[in-house]
Amino acid sequence: MAKIYITRQIPESGLALLKKEGHEVVVSKKDGVLTREELVSELEKYNPDAVLCLLTDKIDSEVFDAAPNAKIFANYAVGFNNINLEDADAKGVTVTNTPGVLTDTVAEHTVTLMCALAKRVVEADSFVRAGKYEGWGPMMFLGSDLKGKTLGVLGAGRIGTRVAEIAHNGFGMSVIYYDIKHSEYIEKGASAEFRETPEEVLKDADFVTMHVPLLDSTTHLINKERLEMMKTSAYLVNTSRGPVIDEVALVNALKNKKIRGAALDVFENEPKLAEGLSDLDNVIITPHIASATDETRGKMSEIVAQNIIAFLKGEEPLNKVDSE
Ligand code: GLV
Ligand code: GLV
Repeated sequence: MAKIYITRQIPESGLALLKKEGHEVVVSKKDGVLTREELVSELEKYNPDAVLCLLTDKIDSEVFDAAPNAKIFANYAVGFNNINLEDADAKGVTVTNTPGVLTDTVAEHTVTLMCALAKRVVEADSFVRAGKYEGWGPMMFLGSDLKGKTLGVLGAGRIGTRVAEIAHNGFGMSVIYYDIKHSEYIEKGASAEFRETPEEVLKDADFVTMHVPLLDSTTHLINKERLEMMKTSAYLVNTSRGPVIDEVALVNALKNKKIRGAALDVFENEPKLAEGLSDLDNVIITPHIASATDETRGKMSEIVAQNIIAFLKGEEPLNKVDSE
């Protein structure tokens, strides 16, 4: 029997799996993100054999040292930029994530944001609620179609590929993409065309969607210069990680109508927003909920538990993350 520390309440299904294996499960009682001090003190207090952590927990050697017996930190997220992998390597800690189970859900949220931007759903809803609707008008809230438009995908992993498939097969969009390497999946699934550089995607796309992991090389992938390369009629969507876009530069680009609109589910300094962002009516903002469905959060809970169970049995967990 092992002791597993969970940094915040998650759906019960995974906890049930852990308990069924006979493990002891300790869940943080705080209704919110533990501060660094709280996390370290909880780990020192419980001395767990495994830690289930969230994308809002910053994990590095100070945290690993507080839980010397925990040789697995299983992240309840597909992204794992919150964990310092070099420190994990140095301490002999295995890190896992939850890929695959959230692909469809995140892709659906991404496409929802694309549609909401193009059809001005949020602006129009606010207009009606504000009592401003006085009857149909031929020039009211003109938006944009998706059919026949070009979707630019930056990062052709599972999620980027799924977004491209829905856009191409569902809406009749053409797809261009950039990634560090070609992907046969996006090319087959969405007839996507590879472009050699992000710039070549940005200058031709009507919608740009971000699906890169957060790395040094992808931080501010979208900056002032690259925003200026986009069409003034283009929309930008980000459901990956906030820092891949320079948010201050984006606010300026939106204010100055360098692009037509943007939809963000993630922010550079979450949960803070760049100054002026929420005053703009050509932006849609959701609070990092792209994977938030009953089905998907339940599956994430199970897969994160399965990773811990396998590791504690001495097996290779299914979703071990490799440091590059
Ligand atoms: C959510 O942002 C995740 O990485 O799972
Ligand atoms: C994440 O699952 C991705 O590969 O896009």
